[in-house]
Amino acid sequence: MKSLVSITDFSKQDILSVLEHAANFEKDSRQRLLQGKVVATLFFEPSTRTRLSFETAINRLGGRVIGFSDANNTSMAKGETLKDTIMMVANYADLIVMRHPLEGAARYASEISRIPIINAGDGANQHPTQTLLDLYSIKKTQGKLDDLNIAMVGDLKYGRTVHSLLQAMSLFRTSFTFIAPPELAMPGEYKNLLAKKKLQYSEHLDLEGSINDADIIYMTRVQRERFLDPMEYEKVKQLYVLRNSMLSNTRPNVKILHPLPRVNEINIDVDSNPKAYYFQQAGNGVFARMAAICHLLNL
Ligand code: CP
Repeated sequence: MKSLVSITDFSKQDILSVLEHAANFEKDSRQRLLQGKVVATLFFEPSTRTRLSFETAINRLGGRVIGFSDANNTSMAKGETLKDTIMMVANYADLIVMRHPLEGAARYASEISRIPIINAGDGANQHPTQTLLDLYSIKKTQGKLDDLNIAMVGDLKYGRTVHSLLQAMSLFRTSFTFIAPPELAMPGEYKNLLAKKKLQYSEHLDLEGSINDADIIYMTRVQRERFLDPMEYEKVKQLYVLRNSMLSNTRPNVKILHPLPRVNEINIDVDSNPKAYYFQQAGNGVFARMAAICHLLNL
């Protein structure tokens, strides 16, 4: 039994296989491979895209969904532990999709569950299915995963999507441009990984000009919910706003990705630029999640 807690739980071969299956699901999304199966979606933290795209993926595959989007409406409000909750739900479902604010919660769940767990985001740690849909979007728009420059902008410290994406792209010949204030810089462990793999990265403070050599501009929201001190959030929340005028000297093939939700980091005048791809990216989540579920259930 395999769970997907970190993107590193998947080999390069697993990832390429999931991307190939996602492309098949995009061509034909009416394959009822989950008929007779039940998937539980346990969201201890708010979500729009991840929960709804998982539920769409399950429905399109002919499966049934149980679960909750607010743990306050469960017996956890009466004091039931995460362990007991997982043990119970494992009696009802064939797979658990779980989002939790605590880093490591999904790994813990995978260690006690007798059915596979998909981590739908654990604190500032990992969001592996976001990475699968990001990779799918990158491959779809660039035609390849090797020899690309990825500019990551904004909250590189707390943004779990950039951590997972960096790990996955480090399997390919990628170079990285990090654009963040010192308070939100990419943590050392991820830069060490790139150094170990002899992959190039550069760090910048200014957005304008630093994105001109990028094939992908990966914008992120400053993660207000991860700050202990609200004043620290106030200092950095407006630092980077991508505007249409900043895109004139960028590469013709560049695509702007964002895991969403955005707050103010992409001005709405970018939305109509053909380089903007974030809404299509969110749509790709259905195909990537269909493929990830089938991969874990060996379907
Ligand atoms: N990208 C993402 O995780 O969005 P949600 O928080 O809406 O699920």
